[in-house]
Formats: sequence, structure tokens, C-alpha cells
Amino acid sequence: MQPRTQVAIIGAGPAGLMLGALLAHRGIDSVILETKSRDYIEHRIRAGVLEQGTIDAMDEVGAGARMHAHGLVHDGALLRFAGRSHRIDFRALTGKAVMVYSQHELVRDLVAHRLAGGAPLAFEVDDVALTGIETARPEVRFRSAGQPGSLACDFIAGCDGFHGVARAAIPADRLRVFEREYPFGWLGILADVAPSSDELVYAYHDRGFALLSMRSPSVSRLYLQCAPDEDLAQWSDDRIWSELAVRLAADGFTLATGPITQRSVTPMRSFVAEPMRHGRLVLAGDAAHIVPPTGAKGLNLAIADVRLLADAIAAHYAGDPAPLDSYSETCLRRVWKVERFSWWMTQLLHRFEGEGRAADEFRSRIQRAELDYVTSSPAAATALAENYVGLPLR
Ligand code: FAD
Ligand code: DHB
Repeated sequence: MQPRTQVAIIGAGPAGLMLGALLAHRGIDSVILETKSRDYIEHRIRAGVLEQGTIDAMDEVGAGARMHAHGLVHDGALLRFAGRSHRIDFRALTGKAVMVYSQHELVRDLVAHRLAGGAPLAFEVDDVALTGIETARPEVRFRSAGQPGSLACDFIAGCDGFHGVARAAIPADRLRVFEREYPFGWLGILADVAPSSDELVYAYHDRGFALLSMRSPSVSRLYLQCAPDEDLAQWSDDRIWSELAVRLAADGFTLATGPITQRSVTPMRSFVAEPMRHGRLVLAGDAAHIVPPTGAKGLNLAIADVRLLADAIAAHYAGDPAPLDSYSETCLRRVWKVERFSWWMTQLLHRFEGEGRAADEFRSRIQRAELDYVTSSPAAATALAENYVGLPLR
């Protein structure tokens, strides 16, 4: 591998891969280092809803062809409670839509695009360590195929997710962390069955939240609120389908079932680390922040970060340091709005228990009032819709 690059990118998730593509598009070289294998990252099942800004970024770098061929454009989504569905019409309320396209397909597209362009991307790299981030000559050390390696660079982009090494390289006394754990998780499944609804269904139910989503006209993706440490062994296919059917029930709706091909439990948290830059290290995506998945924002927020970051790095090389100097501040302003929306969707739609009976009952009455308000007031529905389709980048 080459010993020097302009930007060393740690992590080949959506943030790292998109940053590499946007930088290449601006004539800036980068090397991407990833601990997992190509096969692993191309099959890691995660998010599935793309905002227009994410679609635009895929198009800008020239990686959007498969996404446009297979992505499903959604002009609205359903909120379901008390056995009735209420459509939020994104297109009518905001003029915009979202697209359902799997995160791992987007990752596949970006990997193929990078390799086709001959840009460096190393998989299965171990022991990644960052040095000199407070100097003008930072360096990344690592092991690749058992051999030690090092990469000198101008900047290190920490795109290595929540459990990566980049954020930990910032001295603890320079980092402020804001965190909230939720007392539940999501049990998610993929199933070989045609989606039972043309649009996503977000369901509030006394037994807990449920979400009906999809991956294609023949593959459904569904989620159930569960305990954060739920034991999957306790969930037979029958139990999963009958619980989903109860929570998603509505007049005239039947849940079609089919073979479950993948299942997992995801804990939920809100997390922000400030600032997103220290010396020559910049953070982007889950390395800097986590949102609970209810607003479908994690992937989109990661892409928004690197769109700002790529422009800021390009400005630096063009002689204007200001955008990079203000990267953290600019980014965090948007990050906190998306944190707010994801928290709001989460507290609106989930069943909270354990604050005592009176407090729990009070909360559920407030939730119903808010659901009623959001689905009957055009102003409230518009607020939901404009956040869901994606806030402006700046
Ligand atoms: P990541 O996708 O985490 O990518 C980071 C990359 O860095 C990984 O490939 C990792 O292997 C690599 N890496 C880690 N450490 C190192 C290291 N030391 N050196 C080199 N590489 C390293 N969001 C939603 O909106 N809806 C969902 O349904 C949803 N489901 C999710 C389910 C799970 C299990 C998880 C973990 C997240 C989910 N998310 C969801 C969130 C969304 O997928 C993330 O926000 C998104 O992946 C963020 O992209 P990223 O590139 O910042 O981080
Ligand atoms: C999906 C995930 C989400 O978190 C969400 O809010 C909507 C859809 C999905 O995986 O399809």
C-alpha cells in the first residue's frame, strides 16, 4: 500500500465510502482502511430508507444507477394506532419523497465504484492506531496480512462507527459526550414475503411499537419493540409473526407471513460526542453520534456529515481553512436537530414502562394525544414530514 495520502479514512461503512467517493470527485486522494472483509460489509443488514440528500450524493459520485433501478420511491408513510391508519403525505406536505434501498446495497455500490476507479481500499486491516493528530503530520499505523504498515496523511477521517478507535484518540478532557439509553430495543427480521403494505407502517400499540418496512417487492423488513437484551431463542417464527400481526392490526389489513431469513436485536441509544474535530482528526457518522432508528436517520446523518466534510476538505486544499475550522460547529447544528427528531419519534411511538403506573398511564395518554394531533393538524404533519424526508444540509 502507498505510504502517503491526503486523507486517511478509517472505516468502510457508508460514511467512509461516501467520503472517499466525494473526495475523489473533488480530485483529492484518500486511502480507506477497514477491519472487516468485503463480504462481511456487503452483507451487513442495517438501515433501509434514503433521504433525497443521500440519493443526490450517490448520483453526484456516479454510483446511483443500481439504486435508481431497484430503489422504491415512497411518497408517504402510515402512522397506525387504535386500529386505524393515518397517511402522512410527504410529497404533498414537502414536495419531497424518500427511497427504500438497503444500506448494504448502497455499500456494495460504493465499494464497486471505488474499486472500479482504482482507489485504495484495504479490507481486514487490524490494530489500527492514530498518531500525531495534534500535529500537521498525522499517521495511521495498522497491520495488514500480518505485516505492520503505516500511512502518513494530512487528515484522518474517523468513519469507524460507534465502536471504532478514532473517537477514543481524542483526549478525554477535550471530548464532551451526551448520551441516553432507551429501556427497549428492536427485534428486526427479514422475510421472503411480499410487503403487506405499499408504504411503511409505524404502529403504536399497547404491547409496544411495530414497524413494517420492505427491501423489494418480494422481501419484507419488520421490527418489534422488545427488551434491549431480548433473547432471540425465545422467539419462534410463529411468535414473531403473531406479535407483529397483533401490533400492526387495522381495519382491512392482513399481515402476510413467510420464511424469516435473518433476525437480530438492536439496542437503542441517543449519543453525541462534541467536538467532531480535534487537530487533524475529523469524525463523521456513527463514530460521532448515534440516533435511535425510529426516524430512519442513522445512515442519512452519516452521509450528511461527509457531504459537509468533503466540501470543507476541498476548501482547505483550495486555500480556505474556514469551512474545516467550523466543520464541527456546522455539523453539530444539524446533528442535534436530527437527534431531536429521532428522540421525538422514539418517545412518540414506543411503549414506556417502569416509571410507576400513574406516570406510565399519563405518558400513554399524552402519546395518544400527540398521535391524534400529528395526524389531524397539517402543521404538525408537515413538521414530521419535513424532518423525515431530510432537513437541508446547511
Ligand atoms: P458504520 O456503518 O458502523 O461503519 C463503520 C465501519 O468502520 C464498519 O465497516 C466497521 O467495520 C469499520 N471499523 C470499525 N472499527 C474500525 C477500525 N478500528 N479500523 C478500521 N475500520 C473499522 N439506522 C437506521 O436508520 N435504521 C435502521 O434500521 C438501522 N439499523 C441498524 C442496525 C444495526 C445493528 C446497527 C449497528 C445500526 C443500525 N442503523 C440503522 C444505523 C445505521 O446503520 C448507521 O447509522 C450507519 O451504518 C452509520 O454509518 P457509518 O459509516 O458512520 O458507520
Ligand atoms: C427501516 C428502518 C428504520 O429505522 C425505519 O425507521 C424505517 C425503515 C428499514 O430498515 O427498512
